[in-house]
Amino acid sequence: MISKNMQAALNEQVNKEFFSAYMYLAMSAYCNTLGLPGFAHWMRMQYEEEIMHVTKMYDYILSQGGEVELKAIEKPEKEYGRPLAIFQKTLEHEQYVTGLIHKLMDLAIEERDYATQAFLQWYVTEQVEEESNVNDIVAPLRMVGEDKGGLMMIDQQLAARLAPTPLPVK
Ligand code: FEO
Repeated sequence: MISKNMQAALNEQVNKEFFSAYMYLAMSAYCNTLGLPGFAHWMRMQYEEEIMHVTKMYDYILSQGGEVELKAIEKPEKEYGRPLAIFQKTLEHEQYVTGLIHKLMDLAIEERDYATQAFLQWYVTEQVEEESNVNDIVAPLRMVGEDKGGLMMIDQQLAARLAPTPLPVK
């Protein structure tokens, strides 16, 4: 069982995760327009990943006897600048999401909601991985700058990103 307060906070996070998915899909489309199919693929996989984050939280709310309330999703930007700027924006966004997850954890601790603390631990760990993955892309992007050969090489590496493991259907 979760409190009404926790239910509202988790529903808010469902919306934020949906926005993340929406933003990465917009970034994927934008990368296609730049002629960077590997970047576009990586963003498309990130979109899939965020949908998984949404679904996991949605399932948790229901499993605790809570009510899901889906809200309007904010419109993402259409353009994100050059390749380095795209991934800098991605890093900033993931750092923002990490902050949101930590606030949720603070609430679960304050409410002595042990089940939600255990549930949220998965997201805490996931955010460490997400930030680390993006940092690993920002660093080489900084090195190559606008060098076409360097960007093409990174594009090929990003094209190899695998799809996330699908969640079991409830
Ligand atoms: Fe769902 Fe990228 O955090």
